Amino acid sequence: MTMQPKLKSRVRCTDREIGEVTKVVVDPLSHEISHIVVSMNGSGERQVAMGHVQAVTDSLVELRAPSSDILALPPFKRDDYVTTHEVEIAHLEEKVHVTPGEVLVPFPELEKSVKRRTFFMNFTHAIGFLIGLPIAFPILRYLMKPMYQPFDNGWLKIGNVGKIKQDDIGVQFKYKKKVKEAYMPESEIEKNVWILKATPAVLEKVYQGKDMEFRDAAGKTVWTNKKDMPYVAFSGKCPHLGCGYKWRQHKVLGQVFLCPCHLSIYDAAGKVLDGPAPRPLDALPIKVSAGGDVEIIDMEFKAGTKSQIRII
Ligand code: FES
Repeated sequence: MTMQPKLKSRVRCTDREIGEVTKVVVDPLSHEISHIVVSMNGSGERQVAMGHVQAVTDSLVELRAPSSDILALPPFKRDDYVTTHEVEIAHLEEKVHVTPGEVLVPFPELEKSVKRRTFFMNFTHAIGFLIGLPIAFPILRYLMKPMYQPFDNGWLKIGNVGKIKQDDIGVQFKYKKKVKEAYMPESEIEKNVWILKATPAVLEKVYQGKDMEFRDAAGKTVWTNKKDMPYVAFSGKCPHLGCGYKWRQHKVLGQVFLCPCHLSIYDAAGKVLDGPAPRPLDALPIKVSAGGDVEIIDMEFKAGTKSQIRII
């Protein structure tokens, strides 16, 4: 493995030493260091792309450019980044071997017009929620699931739509599901979906004018969501890496779904507005009885992929 730049390492250009590494910028998806921030011995800080780095040794980072090139870079803009203390990046520590200190990730693109400090305040009650631990993605379950086990396409009754008071507002429905893993006693896990009563405009965004079909492992259709049925259910897991997300009021964007793990933001139709999510929220089969009882089929899809691959 090539060595990674460390905080406080000295930085040398082709002609002379110019300062030291004060921060590193990490790509939240690849977990690779994309830039180092160099404090230039009294001339401010510059953000230097890793492409400029020639070699890294224990205490020295050598650049392949003369100091004049680095000085000519625009000053480092701290407000474009958030620290990894503010956002939790799953598995970052295992991948990036920097001395603990200031590790930054790019501030979400859409928020750049908003002051850094107000970003978190833009979400009502977001702070406690953001520092809460993300829900671990239950990988073990998938590892233990025998490949040939058919998907469970049974309907689960999860509540009544009477609790939805407004259109286009995400309302969380929690439910318990019995799971039986190989070699383990049967247990119950708590899961959730987000349901909204969608206006025609939002329905159009979700279904794009077409009914939505759901299939079993053999590719046979098990259910079709009609494009004009106003209730939409989204799986409670963020398609990025499976964290639980919430419905939040955002001062600039209005009401959105926010995933705290890597700050993916989705609109009411589940479309990605910002962040690393590779696809929209996963809509689930839903039916609502005349009395308002809601039933869903509890499906899960692989996290981190652009296309939807059913795993449960
Ligand atoms: S799990 Fe990464 S943004 Fe949701």
